Amino acid sequence: MDYKLTPSFGRRKARKLRDQSQRAYTDLLPLVKIDHPKKPFETDFPEVWLEIGFGGGEHMLTQLAQNHSIAMIGCEPFMNGVAKFLTHLSPEDYHRVKIWHEDVRYLLDEIPSPYFQRAFILFPDPWPKQRHHRRRLITKEFMEKLWPTLSEGALLHIASDDASYVEHIQDVLYSYPNLILCEGPPSADPLTWSPHPKGWPETRYEQKALASGKKCAYMIFQKKENLS
Ligand SMILES: C[S@@+](CC[C@H](N)C(=O)[O-])C[C@H]1O[C@@H](n2cnc3c(N)ncnc32)[C@H](O)[C@@H]1O
Repeated sequence: MDYKLTPSFGRRKARKLRDQSQRAYTDLLPLVKIDHPKKPFETDFPEVWLEIGFGGGEHMLTQLAQNHSIAMIGCEPFMNGVAKFLTHLSPEDYHRVKIWHEDVRYLLDEIPSPYFQRAFILFPDPWPKQRHHRRRLITKEFMEKLWPTLSEGALLHIASDDASYVEHIQDVLYSYPNLILCEGPPSADPLTWSPHPKGWPETRYEQKALASGKKCAYMIFQKKENLS
């Protein structure tokens, strides 16, 4: 990390952690945090999935419960979210979970390429005000870091409730000819967005967005084989 990025996240810490969360954070984080970004896991797994900005970890916990052979790397700079995830993580899963408690972009610089068979970016901070757009995570520069880490055939799941961000995400991703939109709306117009698709574990941010009457765009892209 010998350079500084514009932060794409809001805060690293909110309220003081309760005793149980503080214990989980202090005792468990050292067991699962990534010490060697060039070799995050000691053993090999058939698939490694990445979740960027996992919040309280609801989605990651559901994926782990439903997919017993995979390993997951979760990236989240927000301490309260990491603590919440760790209080719910089963000891049986410690060996197949790694946490990057930092900005994902520094991990992507280091991790071997390709590494991931799936990546999830669910409700990235929308930064809706024009003057904050430069803080949005999904940009051309970010994709240049993520792209080589995705295996051929890898799936990239993205969801957002912000139409202007969806438009921006689609602009960035459509410029990759080998990245195909397999599921989800091709347009940023919320009128074309469908309800929550089956098989997408809900997240906390999503629940709040839906409860306030917003619509969400759920997209799955696939990295195709390089034919050229
Ligand atoms: C709006 S929240 C959504 C959290 C969760 N995915 C959900 O749907 O409930 C976005 C999360 O992304 C995290 N985040 C933002 N930029 C990030 C980055 N560069 N690397 C890792 N996480 C990031 C933030 O800390 C925040 O917890």
